[in-house]
Amino acid sequence: MSKITAAITAVGGYVPDFVLSNKVLETMVDTNDEWITSRTGIKERRILKDATKGTSYLAIKAAQNLIERGNVNPAEIDMVLLATTTPDMPVAATAVYVATQIGAVNAFAYDLQAACSSFLYGMSTAAAHIQTGRYKKILVIGGDKMSSIIDYTDRATCIIFGDGAGAALFEPNEEGLGLQDEFLRSDGIGREYLKIDAGGSLLPASKETVENRQHYVFQDGKTVFKYAVTGMADVSEKIMERNNLSESDVDWLIAHQANKRIIDATANRMGVAENKVLINIENYGNTTSGTLPLLLSDFEHKFKKGDNLIFAAFGGGFTWGAIYLKWAYDAK
Ligand code: UT7
Repeated sequence: MSKITAAITAVGGYVPDFVLSNKVLETMVDTNDEWITSRTGIKERRILKDATKGTSYLAIKAAQNLIERGNVNPAEIDMVLLATTTPDMPVAATAVYVATQIGAVNAFAYDLQAACSSFLYGMSTAAAHIQTGRYKKILVIGGDKMSSIIDYTDRATCIIFGDGAGAALFEPNEEGLGLQDEFLRSDGIGREYLKIDAGGSLLPASKETVENRQHYVFQDGKTVFKYAVTGMADVSEKIMERNNLSESDVDWLIAHQANKRIIDATANRMGVAENKVLINIENYGNTTSGTLPLLLSDFEHKFKKGDNLIFAAFGGGFTWGAIYLKWAYDAK
């Protein structure tokens, strides 16, 4: 019997309609379009304006888009993994609600949190479950309502993040397609540089924490940038070496969309040509767990069966890594 690998068989995505442009941000904080564009590559981001809706809304929309595009029967899904840093509530798991809402009535579901690497780690988890032969259809959704944890008076963070979600379905493959290798890392040194101080067990939310704005994201951008450039490039280079891939073997680089300069540095180290580097950061900004699956959703039409995709991400924690995956179907 041939070895079971875990292949992506359908993708979907969703971003809310409201566009927050650099021009509008200029009226909110001391910044300008030229600075944001040259330092990050971002032109605009999408915001889920409806205060009554959380990340589940984005995740449900992305999953429904996948179900429609891939002609998937949700009742056949075994497991729903929601990669997110902004669950609807600390308890209960958002994935459970999402699974029920999309009709995945026979699935078990849970959330996975590893900041901007959540979806990458989710891919690894899904693949491991598929490879055991125990489960046949695993839906991994990555999404964040970042606007719910961003301080729109802090120019160091509010220019970067946006809201959005994407989804990928993993199924067994016996042709050797799907996930080939992974190199995942983490280092607790990152805890001080990218965090939300309050609202957890260490510092529960209180009147004081809210007054001190400690329920918002804090980022020491310069330090995170340095670690991200080195980290993402290192793991991407490593995964190529380990699998004897030269730059011409790599068809697509699917990199976390945090900063165009970090993506460029990773591509340069890999020697991968610009036309193989998928970018949508200019439209969405950094959607945290949403960036990788949104790239899959936006660029699905370009992928061919057998294409070599390298995924790379870096995020708070720190968490980072790279995954090598062979695409399993021709664009529909
Ligand atoms: O996705 C999770 C992982 N996160 C990341 O990978 C993000 C990594 N970090 C970054 O992408 C970048 O560090 C930022 C985009 C956040 C910042 O870019 P930078 O080139 O590192 O800028 P900086 O923080 O070094 O600031 C340079 C200058 C400073 O002014 P002075 O001290 O040189 O006079 C800042 O005060 O730019 C100023 N500045 C701004 N100016 C206009 C900082 N933020 C802004 C702003 N608009 N929004």
